Amino acid sequence: MTAAPLLDAMTNYAEGGRLGFHTPGHHRGKGFPAGFARLVEKYGPALDLTELPGLDNLAAPAGCIEESQRETARLTGAGSTYYLVNGATAGLEAAMLAMSGPDMTTILPAHCHTAIHRGLVLTGSMPIILPCRMDSEWGLPLGVDIKAAEVWLKAEVSGRLPDKALWISVNPTYHGLMADLAWEKNIAKARPDWRWLADEAHGAHLPFVNAGGAGGRAPGALAFGADAVVHSVHKMGTGMTQTGLLHSSRADLAGRLRQSVNIMQSTSPSYLLMASLDAWQAFLQNGGVSELRRADELARSLADGIKAIGGYRLWQDELPASMKTDPRKITLSSRELGIDGISLAEVLRHDYAIDVELATNEHILLIVGLGHDEADVCRMVKALASIGKAALAKGSKGSSERNRVIDKMYERGQKPWSPAISPREAFFSPREKVKLEASPGRLAAVTVAPYPPGVPVIFPGMEISKEAIEKIISIEGSGIRCAGLTRAGGAVFVDVVGETYSVSKQGVSP
Ligand SMILES: Cc1ncc(COP(=O)(O)O)c(C=O)c1O
Repeated sequence: MTAAPLLDAMTNYAEGGRLGFHTPGHHRGKGFPAGFARLVEKYGPALDLTELPGLDNLAAPAGCIEESQRETARLTGAGSTYYLVNGATAGLEAAMLAMSGPDMTTILPAHCHTAIHRGLVLTGSMPIILPCRMDSEWGLPLGVDIKAAEVWLKAEVSGRLPDKALWISVNPTYHGLMADLAWEKNIAKARPDWRWLADEAHGAHLPFVNAGGAGGRAPGALAFGADAVVHSVHKMGTGMTQTGLLHSSRADLAGRLRQSVNIMQSTSPSYLLMASLDAWQAFLQNGGVSELRRADELARSLADGIKAIGGYRLWQDELPASMKTDPRKITLSSRELGIDGISLAEVLRHDYAIDVELATNEHILLIVGLGHDEADVCRMVKALASIGKAALAKGSKGSSERNRVIDKMYERGQKPWSPAISPREAFFSPREKVKLEASPGRLAAVTVAPYPPGVPVIFPGMEISKEAIEKIISIEGSGIRCAGLTRAGGAVFVDVVGETYSVSKQGVSP
């Protein structure tokens, strides 16, 4: 038999009796809406269909796909919804293509996902990057640095703010921290030629569990008047991997949005993926909201179980009361037990067949999905309890070491900044390959990002700093590969803009 290495690895994985606290949120189909699960079980491969009579066409929907999108839009409170089969990534890129361009500025927070940087290459827009506050001990972004942004916004009086801009929000962050949407709205909606795009890849479920902002949590950005909002349905919802939604309430943008979505997607979209999007809207209408609340409760009981063990700390407990997080994202530190996050994830993986969403030196991230149950929570709590007990028996001592490198990376002296040339100009410029260590001072031609979480350390047009290189080396040293680098003969290389290339635009430093 010819080797099928990926298939073999997936089969081993599926057969391994493993428990995962990661995406996709349906947790191996256990959280699929009942009707969709029945169909998949009964017909399996027969559901892999194409644009046959009666099955509509995603590129120009006028039948069952259109009806399903309309229902999703109605439920979400959008004017229109576009189904995505290439993840929230395609939706963000499409929204940027439709709402921005080379004559517009894009204002984005430093902790933006790589999809936004890809969108900048597509549109040719020059970015202004807003610093974000960092939780230095946990190495996690705390959202836009509002103080720094406001100082910069006041520069309006001296006429330095762009007339035409696309304002980008991230709500919530990868670790589930919600943005201050009222503040974002005040800025994004105050100027006639500014548009507002919200990346809610991790928040498709939030407006439903918190209808009307009940429980102290904010509803989604659509309710605040964002021009376009993008959801992943495979992260915290019930969709299959790659499913997402682009919502907009701007009828005047509908034509450009449709065209841009078509540009970013396959002309042969998977009907299984689209069916799982249809199943998500039906789920929300048929009791799914109580399932979402059940998952919240389950996550709270996992958090309580972990706290009861002792020795573990939860990030959400240490945040100021004004900062709200999604209870289904649990960010956990075992440093007081003398175990770093990467080692904790390794022990969970090898000794307990449990996989986590993300591990860094400082923490691990667990995602409680719709397919989890009490037995899963018990298994995780027992595993953490025995790891904790073993660490205490060994007399391991904790540490509260701080990661200053990350601080410097994101804070950038607390000033909004722009790259030397636009990401598009850098992308199309002549390139050179240089050794990573020799790259500081050069302009990057590529994006370098660890995934997860997919927040770039380097992106096209940006002058590469020593801190960026140190960060990449430390990420790779912890076993996570950064996309965007090339390797040969034991050395690591990065593509930079050729030295002979003359830079046509100078960066702004507001
Ligand atoms: C904040 C954020 N936005 C967008 C995306 C892209 O989502 P998708 O994987 O559905 O393309 C991710 C993926 O991790 C993300 O974390």
